[in-house]
Amino acid sequence: MQALVYTGPGTVEVLDRPKPTVQVPTDAVVRLLHASICGTDLHILKGDVPSIEPGRVLGHEGVGVVESLGSAVHTLQLGQRVLISCMTSCGACRFCQRGLAAHCITGGWTLGNKIDGTQAEYVRVPHATLSLHPLPDSIDARAAVAVSDAFPTGLECGVLSAGVQLGGSVAIVGAGPVGMAALLTARLYTPSLIVMVDLDEGRLATAHSLGAHATVVSSPDAEQKLMDLTGGQGFDSVIEAVGIPATFELCQKVVAVGGRIANVGVHGTKVDLHLERLWERNISIHMSLVNATTTSRLLRLVESNMLDISSLVTHHFPFTEAPKAYETFQAASQHKALKVAIDFT
Ligand SMILES: NC(=O)c1ccc[n+]([C@@H]2O[C@H](COP(=O)([O-])OP(=O)(O)OC[C@H]3O[C@@H](n4cnc5c(N)ncnc54)[C@H](O)[C@@H]3O)[C@@H](O)[C@H]2O)c1
Ligand SMILES: [Zn+2]
Ligand SMILES: [Zn+2]
Repeated sequence: MQALVYTGPGTVEVLDRPKPTVQVPTDAVVRLLHASICGTDLHILKGDVPSIEPGRVLGHEGVGVVESLGSAVHTLQLGQRVLISCMTSCGACRFCQRGLAAHCITGGWTLGNKIDGTQAEYVRVPHATLSLHPLPDSIDARAAVAVSDAFPTGLECGVLSAGVQLGGSVAIVGAGPVGMAALLTARLYTPSLIVMVDLDEGRLATAHSLGAHATVVSSPDAEQKLMDLTGGQGFDSVIEAVGIPATFELCQKVVAVGGRIANVGVHGTKVDLHLERLWERNISIHMSLVNATTTSRLLRLVESNMLDISSLVTHHFPFTEAPKAYETFQAASQHKALKVAIDFT
């Protein structure tokens, strides 16, 4: 088969690789229809994830068709269309039993990390029963790649962790795919105010069209603008979806008394926590790696037209042009790209 292989810092190549096979009874092999590129894949290219060695097939997002099944997988059928979760989970270990699938002892973030991933014609998915979700016919397969990672992350690590509530106020810092997914899922809880913050005015315009009540360009006066939008009170729910010190600082400045900060961003450097200001303000701070335990509920929301996922995948390329897909995603702002899909059909 053909696969997109990480060949060393900064480079990916389409190479011939052996087609994966079922190795243990709980595995499935999936033939890809669509895969997508995540910001995390770009981190890998930059060399930020040293555990990933050259030779690894990248990708933890995708939709495909079940090609073969291990003897212990009873809930799926050959030929069935499935969504591949970014997290593989056994469902039985002590972390899975607590809903912490991200920390599954024999699973977690495996695809495109510990084992070969989804940016290939075929992928072996461990713990297939819980790591693959049947994809209803009514859901567009290409758009659904955003439900592998971005939507569960926006919902679980953002909206649910930040306690978004009916009538509450929400600030989302970062209008990438994850911030947009947080916006779209926050709306399901009917807050009275959602404000998106980003440097990219194009992304802020998209956020506005997706239902943000207001947008603020990240600049030195962003704090003042955000406070003004809440009559000086700050936000009940603040979601950090960038992953740099400046944005986590901003979140701490604009959270209301009794509010909750949800950190979603992946941080590579030290970030200050201002307990000297926050200790008396009854603030909660939550941080998490996505467990993807909401995926089947998200798919039901899409199926019942309660959640529109169609806006996240903005660009798509045939697999033969996968390196170009990476180039486009690396210059996302210039190309007005949110999520970039790779098509195998
Ligand atoms: N916790 C998890 O399990 C999990 C899962 C997936 C992704 N993530 C992380 O979530 C974050 C967002 O992911 P994404 O795919 O949307 O990434 P992205 O890079 O596409 O989006 C980040 C956005 O932040 C904006 N930004 C950069 N600097 C800014 C600043 N100073 N002020 C305001 N905005 C700024 C960028 O313009 C961009 O729109 C990343 O850090 C990613 O690694 C976390
Ligand atoms: Zn991802
Ligand atoms: Zn487990």
